[in-house]
Order: sequence, then C-alpha cells, then structure tokens
Amino acid sequence: MRHCTLIGLLLCTLSATAAAAGERPPADLGSAVREIFAAKCVQCHAATLARPKGKFGYVLDLPRIASNPKMVVKSDPAHSKLWEVINAGDMPPDDAKAGPLADSQKLAIRAWIEAGAPAPRAAPRPTAESAAVDASMEQMVEPDSDARPASLVARLMQWIGKLHVLVVHFPIALTAAAAGLESWRMFRKSAGISPVVRFCIFFGAAGAVVAAALGWIHAPFSGYATGTAGALRLHRWAGVAAAIGAVIAAALSEADAHRGRRTMMFRVALFATALLTGAAGHLGGSLVYGDDFLRW
Ligand code: HEC
Repeated sequence: MRHCTLIGLLLCTLSATAAAAGERPPADLGSAVREIFAAKCVQCHAATLARPKGKFGYVLDLPRIASNPKMVVKSDPAHSKLWEVINAGDMPPDDAKAGPLADSQKLAIRAWIEAGAPAPRAAPRPTAESAAVDASMEQMVEPDSDARPASLVARLMQWIGKLHVLVVHFPIALTAAAAGLESWRMFRKSAGISPVVRFCIFFGAAGAVVAAALGWIHAPFSGYATGTAGALRLHRWAGVAAAIGAVIAAALSEADAHRGRRTMMFRVALFATALLTGAAGHLGGSLVYGDDFLRW
C-alpha cells in the first residue's frame, strides 16, 4: 500500500516538473507527416493489413521509415525513395480511396526529409474508428492537438502503455506453465495441490490484469488503431477475457488450496485461461507482425 502512495507521489512530481518545462516546441514536422500518411496511405500500408502493399506496412512508424536508408536518406529528398514515389505521383496510386496528395502535403513530406526525418513529437490522434472503440481515451488525446504539443498526461500515458509489450510475457508464460504442469498432474491422476501451479496461476493472474490495463492504455498510441480497428478490437477483448479467466482460475486455485485438493472447476478455468491467453497473444502478434507472421 505504501508503495502505491510512493509511486503516485512520484508520478505527480514528474508531471508537475514536466508541465513547468513544457514550452511550445517548433513545428512538429514528424506529427504533420504522420497525419498525412494516416489520411492517405493506410488503406494500403497499414500495419494491420494482412498483406500491406509493397511489403511496406509501417507507414505510421516514422522512426522506422527514417532509419531505413532504402526509404529515406536523411536531409536528402532527391535520394529518398519515399520522396521519389511521391514526387513522381506514383504514391498514392490513382485508385487510392483518399485521393492524391495536395501540393502542401507533398511539401511537408519533403520538408520533413530535409529536416532529417525527425520522429513525431505528438501522440497519434485517435481516428473516428479508434475513438468509437474507446471513446474514453479521447479525453487524454484532444482531437485537435496538432498545433499544440500532446499534453503531458498523454505523453506519460503513451510511455506507460509501452510497458504492455513487456509485461504481457509474464502472464503468457505463467499460465502456460501452470496449464502444462496441471495436465501432467492429471495424467498422473494426482488430486493434490501443486504449489508450483498455485504460484504460477496466482502471479499469472496478477500479470494478466496489469497487462490488460496497460494494453488498454497503449491501444490509442500504438498506431494500430488506424486502418482496421477490427484486429485491435479482437485482440483487446481476447486479452480482457484472458485476464478475467486468470483471476477466476486464481481464485479457484486459492479455494482449492484451502480445501486441500484439486477440483475439476479449477482445471477447466485454468485450461480455458491458458487458451484465451494464447489467443490474445497470437492476436497481438498478428497485429504487430501481420497475419502471416507464423507462416513457414
Ligand atoms: C491504393 C493503395 C495504395 C495507397 C493508398 C498507397 N500506396 Fe504505396 N504502394 C502501393 C502498392 C501496390 C505498392 C507496391 C508497388 C510496387 O511494388 O510496384 C506500393 C509501394 C510503396 C512504396 C515502395 C515500397 C518499397 O519498398 O518498394 C512506398 C515508399 C509507398 N508505397 C509509399 C506510399 C505512401 C507514402 C502513400 C501515401 C501518401 C502510399 N504509398 C499510398 C499501393 C498504395
């Protein structure tokens, strides 16, 4: 409990300090360009597409584009493929739903490369789709924030949300370990309580709750909210279901421990949780690496 207070205090101090230092930075070319790409390119180059066109599925990940010399030669638009295809009018193609780029948009992209292709400073704006998925997030990222830097809270949330990709590994491994060991014990026809299973599902559940909460925070900043929201929604609810399942399994596990023997209820809950966790993890992987990331 004392730790929570400490962390809360720390967060408050952090936000206060940074708010004080939060002067308005010069034009944020990175964010401007990302908005242009979000409007004009995601139809074919979104990370959520199973097969992004031209194997270029990270149009909203500007740091990644900038660090790929085949796309962008920093400060040198003439030798940047990205600028070549835009300048030649090849991208977006004539059949693009969002239409061609305005001259001012082309100039912004060129200026961005000339400026050394800086990373966006603002958090991505939620699109209509992602806003529908999670209206509550709108309060954190004001929809009309392109002129202003993203609020400190938004940036803090963005950073905290990133921990999602780190934390998810714990519930995945712990519930899988619990399910694996419990299967072995069923095979051995043992009705006793394994302290290892009890440990794994307890901390697996704790990890699952934290991971789900962090995932919720991460979603609007992840870039996957743009384009197809379907994949994100599926991943989100699979994750939430896995966390709920894990908590139920952990509660049953503790009840069993009091009783002194394993119940079928616990086992059903545990295996369901392990399956859900695997599904949520797989959907998350597909979100980031594409549907075919497990293809041989
Ligand atoms: C209607 C679909 C569509 C839209 C919209 C679209 N592209 Fe493309 N893009 C393609 C296709 C198809 C290819 C592959 C062309 C090829 O390989 O000949 C491609 C290839 C590219 C490539 C080359 C990738 C590589 O490594 O060879 C770049 C860069 C690119 N697009 C940038 C953009 C940008 C920037 C936008 C938005 C301003 C955009 N595209 C919008 C369909 C699209």
